[in-house]
Amino acid sequence: MDIFKIEGPVKLSGDIRINGSKNAALPIMAATILAPGKSTILDVPDLADINVLKTLLTSLGATVETRQKGEVEIDTSVIDNPVGEYDIVRKMRASICILGPLLARCGRAEVSMPGGCAIGDRPVDIHLRGLRELGAEICLKNGNIVATAPKGLIGKQIFLGGPFGSTVLGTANILMAATLAKGTTVIESAACEPEIGDLAGILNAMGAKITGMGSPRLTIEGVKSLSPVKYRVIGDRIEAGTFMVAAAITKGNLRLHNCNLDHMLAIVDRLEHIGVTIDTADDGCVVTRTGSIKAADITTQTYPGFPTDLQAQLMALLAHADGNSIVTEKIFPDRFMHVAEMNRMAANIRKEGASAIIAGVKNLVAAPIMASDLRASAALVLAAMAAHGTTIINRVYHIDRGYEKIEKKLNAAGAKITRESV
Ligand code: EPZ
Repeated sequence: MDIFKIEGPVKLSGDIRINGSKNAALPIMAATILAPGKSTILDVPDLADINVLKTLLTSLGATVETRQKGEVEIDTSVIDNPVGEYDIVRKMRASICILGPLLARCGRAEVSMPGGCAIGDRPVDIHLRGLRELGAEICLKNGNIVATAPKGLIGKQIFLGGPFGSTVLGTANILMAATLAKGTTVIESAACEPEIGDLAGILNAMGAKITGMGSPRLTIEGVKSLSPVKYRVIGDRIEAGTFMVAAAITKGNLRLHNCNLDHMLAIVDRLEHIGVTIDTADDGCVVTRTGSIKAADITTQTYPGFPTDLQAQLMALLAHADGNSIVTEKIFPDRFMHVAEMNRMAANIRKEGASAIIAGVKNLVAAPIMASDLRASAALVLAAMAAHGTTIINRVYHIDRGYEKIEKKLNAAGAKITRESV
């Protein structure tokens, strides 16, 4: 198991290229199931989660070839085993996004119910409701979702909202299934995340007829078949936001490439309020902090609101603010595993239900800490770069799920991170 040894405080400066988006690449790779033949996806990040999906696609009968620089060729000419095995699916919850395409292509699918994870329950009831609305018969057998559509799927108007608003992968599943359904489907309360827009982009490139991207109402006119394509995924706004905080927390200056600020307005709003300068530049932006860190209130929401995947990272920054901040988690109310770890570094954060009250302190102090979920772990790396002393972060495999060679990128900008196997 790997650990990180991180010396602080450091001041970051330099250029960082943002990778293709993990959360766009995952459903996009699943979408190739719908288009028999060889699709090539460009700028796919080299991550543990992506590798799980490659293994899963191969287990379904596809052939996956990873080439240089994030180019992945997926040949789905043969999909002869529409079963997502527990041993693979349990490694990554997002595996659920093969359900819709498998059902649409094969008329049946069996996918293990994804387990929970460190950020809380991860139900899929809305996914299943949406597929039933399209005419699928669904039952649970030995922990597996068994879905069949012997007569094919039939388009329909479907409300896909839940207690926490829209669902990203639920929208992805229904969107993909609807592309081959008979007739027209309207998804009300669809997720508006840019990653869903990117998924709709490849599906339309394959021959689907989807309108309403970026809005909560998606209309899909079913077609007979889809064809394989070559497609580049968008930049990862969550990785970009993480590195924006890296510049801010170390009072540094970073130029980020391959990031689209149009997808990050809520993040830019909060960071500028806190005292961070973000200037558009070339294919990205320049992020600088020179003055103090102002306290701020942050509530996570579905897009275009503030993303839950950057909540922990902003908390690491606000731990140093002048005054008190409140962070409220409306998407995953239990997503606060990082609070106890930051408090071990002398932060002063108190959890109150789905909120955390952060009393800013002058600086954090290095300590041995534990990574938990993907984004919380990245937040601990940020905190450690600003903390005084050498921090040890255990279980960094969590970080490798969503950040490609994070220590290489940060060290090239002045961080002092050593990865060790223990
Ligand atoms: C996606 O997960 C992302 N993952 C998550 O990023 C992200 O945190 C999340 O969206 C919210 O933005 C990928 O795209 C691979 P949801 P997803 O369905 O689709 C509830 C990361 O760090 N819900 O939008 O699984 C659910 O419990 C990961 O990269 C239901 O109640 O999330 C949550 O409270 C972590 N029933 C809320 O909706 C359902 O059927 C939003 O979840 C589905 C979801």
